[in-house]
Amino acid sequence: MQVIQSKDSSNQMQDYDLLITDINIASMAQDNLDYGIIKNGSIAIKGDRISWIGSSDEIPKAVYKEKLAMPGKWITPALIDCHTHLVFAGNRAWEFEERIKGKSYSEISLAGGGIISTVLETRKCSKDKLINLAKKRLKSLQSEGVGTIEIKSGYGLDLESEKKMLMVANELDNEQITIKKTFLGAHSLPPEYKGRGDDYIKYICNEMLPEINNAGLIDAVDAFCETIAFSNQQISSLFDKAVSLNLPVKLHADQLSNSGGAELAAEYNALSADHIEYTSNNGVKALANAGCVAVLLPGAFMTINETQKPPINELRKCDVPIAIATDCNPGSSPICSIRFAMTLAANLFQLTPEECLAGVTREAAKALGLENKKGTLEIGKDADIAIWDINHPNELTYWVGFNQLSNLIIKGKVI
Ligand code: NIG
Ligand code: FE
Repeated sequence: MQVIQSKDSSNQMQDYDLLITDINIASMAQDNLDYGIIKNGSIAIKGDRISWIGSSDEIPKAVYKEKLAMPGKWITPALIDCHTHLVFAGNRAWEFEERIKGKSYSEISLAGGGIISTVLETRKCSKDKLINLAKKRLKSLQSEGVGTIEIKSGYGLDLESEKKMLMVANELDNEQITIKKTFLGAHSLPPEYKGRGDDYIKYICNEMLPEINNAGLIDAVDAFCETIAFSNQQISSLFDKAVSLNLPVKLHADQLSNSGGAELAAEYNALSADHIEYTSNNGVKALANAGCVAVLLPGAFMTINETQKPPINELRKCDVPIAIATDCNPGSSPICSIRFAMTLAANLFQLTPEECLAGVTREAAKALGLENKKGTLEIGKDADIAIWDINHPNELTYWVGFNQLSNLIIKGKVI
């Protein structure tokens, strides 16, 4: 990584809030091979930003309000979980049992289980109870070094309940965690619209989305493109509306079948196309041309006993950025561990440990449109830093159930 010394035209000594020294750095900066490793490095923080990073031999002369020497430890960017359904009520452990006994995710969904059963629970749950439930899941992610998380709505499916979910997500945002909120009204057809998918999409476009957007509750719009959810045409009209409101889009694409979801996401310059197990080579090319991130959700792949793997080699060949997320939800991915998602991506999809770490830092930031602020340790970026008791960053993908997080710094503050 290029080391830039801070200049001060007044010739006065710069002052910084915090200097961490004698630490090994995995900056994950783009174009820096091998994790962007700087052995025996240092990092300076001013306010909520990284103000200097480099070798401990080149620390700028300055006034540091606080100094921390951490010999032997490693730092990486704080982790980012870029696809979750963290806010929901109830659970679907019974569904898990059914699947273990042989029923498929689609069969359970068509028999009235699946997403709709969580919708019914979430609709009747109070906002305060939803906050308490979500806080516990969030805590689990934070304990593993997560500093940014995306939360989708999609278990309300009416104006009031979708708003409730997004207000819960909003209230979870604080100085210890950055939350990006995504509207997923087109997650499943609610029972009251049975057989009237087009009418439901009109309701979303004409009523729900404009009001939720006016309330400042969302950063992006997502949809579930699948035979058991919404058609490409229905999603196109939703995305047209999102574009008219200047909202970026994302898509649950090609999870259970190839419906041309990746191509659809690319057509709308989506931030990301997620799942993509059934995406064709043409779909991958479309993602590459549109600069769309591929978000892999190995927890869902594992839970629903999927056998079709995402087109990893084609994604690599076409240079599509690959992110990894938990997809935390009560049905297809009851997983509150980003580290487990990394391990699954390596063991199930053969992603390298470096790709896995990039997938929950640099590439995950891109999937949320946050690449200028987060995801790598570079001057000017947010000081969201995870400090680890490890010997090499490949251990973050290797171990399961062993949390080596030593400290977490979010927006410049040790939390
Ligand atoms: O990302 N595929 C659609 N949505 C979720 C599943 C949600 C659920 O089963 O409750 C997913 O896998
Ligand atoms: Fe999802």
